[in-house]
Amino acid sequence: MFYPDEIIQEVRAQNDIVDVAAAYVPLRNRGGRHWGLCPFHQENTPSFTVNGDTQFFHCFGCGAGGNVITFVMRIEHMDFVDALKLLADRVHFILPQPGESQAERAKHAEKAQAAEYNKAAARFYYEQLQASNAFASEAREYLKSRGVNQKIQALFGLGLSPPGWDGLLKHLTSSGTGETTPADLHKAGLLSMSHKEGNRYYDRFRERLMFPIIDPAKRVVGFGGRIMRETADEAKYLNSPETSLFNKSGLLYALNLARKTRAKELIIVEGYMDVIALFKAGFTNAVGVLGTALTTRHVQLLRRNGCETALLLLDSDDAGTAAALKSIPLLLEGGLRVKVLQVPDAKDPDEFLQKFGAQRLGSLLSDAKSHIAFQVGLAQKKYDMDKTEDRIRFTEEAAALLATISSEIETDAYVQETARASQIAPPAIFAEIHKQRGKINADGGQAPMRQLRLNLRRSSEDPGLREARKQLLCLALTHPPAARALASSGFLAPEEMGNEVLSQMLDMVYRNIFPAPADIVSRFETAEAQQQAAEVFIKPIAYSTTLEMEKSLNEMAVIIKRAYIDAQIESFGLKNDLNAVNSLVLSKKNLQSQYITLSNG
Ligand code: CTP
Ligand code: MN
Repeated sequence: MFYPDEIIQEVRAQNDIVDVAAAYVPLRNRGGRHWGLCPFHQENTPSFTVNGDTQFFHCFGCGAGGNVITFVMRIEHMDFVDALKLLADRVHFILPQPGESQAERAKHAEKAQAAEYNKAAARFYYEQLQASNAFASEAREYLKSRGVNQKIQALFGLGLSPPGWDGLLKHLTSSGTGETTPADLHKAGLLSMSHKEGNRYYDRFRERLMFPIIDPAKRVVGFGGRIMRETADEAKYLNSPETSLFNKSGLLYALNLARKTRAKELIIVEGYMDVIALFKAGFTNAVGVLGTALTTRHVQLLRRNGCETALLLLDSDDAGTAAALKSIPLLLEGGLRVKVLQVPDAKDPDEFLQKFGAQRLGSLLSDAKSHIAFQVGLAQKKYDMDKTEDRIRFTEEAAALLATISSEIETDAYVQETARASQIAPPAIFAEIHKQRGKINADGGQAPMRQLRLNLRRSSEDPGLREARKQLLCLALTHPPAARALASSGFLAPEEMGNEVLSQMLDMVYRNIFPAPADIVSRFETAEAQQQAAEVFIKPIAYSTTLEMEKSLNEMAVIIKRAYIDAQIESFGLKNDLNAVNSLVLSKKNLQSQYITLSNG
């Protein structure tokens, strides 16, 4: 789904960022900028600024920044399209139907219809749970025995699928105008089909407690259903089948509720009942994976909803531990901080709360350790610290984990802990960490391209290089002559900019696309990408002469090129490809002989 750029630009232009931001943050005008307390981090003195001229916001404290759409995305935890809709509504601008192909439109319509059927089903199940019959009261008793009260039932919209084969089928096809067919309901995941005596449809969920699954857009996308008396031949939980609407690896149970807390830390648990028990105990920032492993889509979903730290609170068995170990790298790669907690003396958080109460869990949660400490703890369990040989093995394993930490302070703290556990002196542990870091960097198992990307990403942490990339783009995107000179020199390729956003921006330069800076930002869909794009324009250098501009352009281009060649040399060097390395070294020497000339005009 996409809107044409002109529409996005129009909506952005009609919404002055100063007015929009002022509705959320009290602002004071000082020195041509508007200042306030940053809504995106905790602070006591204002470092959040809004600039009416550039139409950007920027926080000097936490670095948040972007245009008015970014601002709404971040403060409302919305995606791009929803933020655009909100802003369009605000100025009574009527958005056209977004561009969609025929097929896309049909798919959207089918999804919307399926969500309506699921909502109607949720209502039906909800009523069934409140009904006055023996089965319903048995179900209510069951919930009571598990500590689920009326209020929680209503909050989660819990329901009951009745015994029999066609309770839901009859209800949904007979009520209303009678337009709903069993085939529609089957597509929506609510009916199953038997092929025995001709095609016969019947209720997929029967005699189960029903947990509706609601996505962040508040659509009922599916259900989990639990039997109340556990038997060997029936699965304890049954979920909706995978449909266009229901895809387990892209959904988190209760995210629709947890996102409302705007918490930066979300607790991730394994079971429906764990989520419910946590909410009841007051931990309303909990979400559940739906009986699957965590995926990168889950991670994106967490991030889009304002999550910065994921606290994995998985079951206390080996499966829970294994799930945590698998999830950690995904979460880290997604840029989240990760903590891990497994509750003692209970199989899962729900049981822990039943046994020990909310206060005990609260203190465990606030003490939850980082993923590193969790992994070091697991390593420690494998070894006997009374044996010298084991202490050495443990320390080596711990050092390999600590070698992945980028913060020196954090490393130091963990080294002290490891030293205490292993009785090995900190300097020896530091030396081992150093050795392991060398190994990570020299990991020949990585494909050159991946290694190159890693090197580039690491090089992006060099402030001088970062500044050169930003200033070069700022110059090229705001001075067409500089853009033309850069493009015709062919000196830099987009991928040499070190990350996706900056690469795309250089690509715009090459394709002759020069909207206003605040509109360039809207071409990126996530708030994070928009922020990176906006940073390019935050502190433009003021050049007094064309010659000065030309010199600066060349300096910046050489810095960028050199870093790229260095990254290439490093990755080819690791592959022992000496020919490639030699020619790269040569091209690096030749850099000085190239010069981009800016024509006047
Ligand atoms: N699950 C599933 N299908 C199953 C078993 C489990 O989809 N046959 C999923 C459900 O989402 C469930 C989660 O895995 O909530 C965790 O399973 P489990 O630990 O067995 O369930 P609990 O949530 O602890 O359920 P309860 O406390 O009701 O027994
Ligand atoms: Mn449980």
